[in-house]
Amino acid sequence: MTERTLVLIKPDGVARALVGDILARIERKGLALVALELKTVDDELARRHYAEHEGKPFFPALLEFITSAPLVAAVVEGPRAVAAWRQIAGGTDPVEKAVPGTIRGDFALSTQNNLVHGSDSPDSAEREIAIWFPDLDS
Ligand code: PPS
Repeated sequence: MTERTLVLIKPDGVARALVGDILARIERKGLALVALELKTVDDELARRHYAEHEGKPFFPALLEFITSAPLVAAVVEGPRAVAAWRQIAGGTDPVEKAVPGTIRGDFALSTQNNLVHGSDSPDSAEREIAIWFPDLDS
């Protein structure tokens, strides 16, 4: 079943010039890019995207980080795209959870500056894609 999911290459991924490597991994897996944009996000969009984390201790720092510099937002499509992209990305904690061979397992040390974001379910993907690419299907 074809699905779509949201991909973010966070500001640390752009600053470390890992965009090409990360997109290559997505394409080699067989997922198709259907939208791609380099942008600096404002506080309002960041708060909508991370609404489920509001009130957690790391929330203010997460907002500051995600709005600090340009990031890459993309939508990718393919069979089981949500799970496939999370597999390529690796677990949120790049040391305790992400295994070598994944993006976070290979390139990250910090749970905040962990290079990429992926929607955690098809419902989240639909919500997040509507936030980042409201005109995608119009
Ligand atoms: S949790 O612990 O269930 O809220 O974690 P998770 O749903 O996997 O994602 C949390 C997102 O917040 C970012 N972040 C942190 N998470 C946990 N601990 C700390 N200290 C922290 N700091 C930032 C983390 O990178 C996840 O971002 P996304 O973009 O969703 O991957």
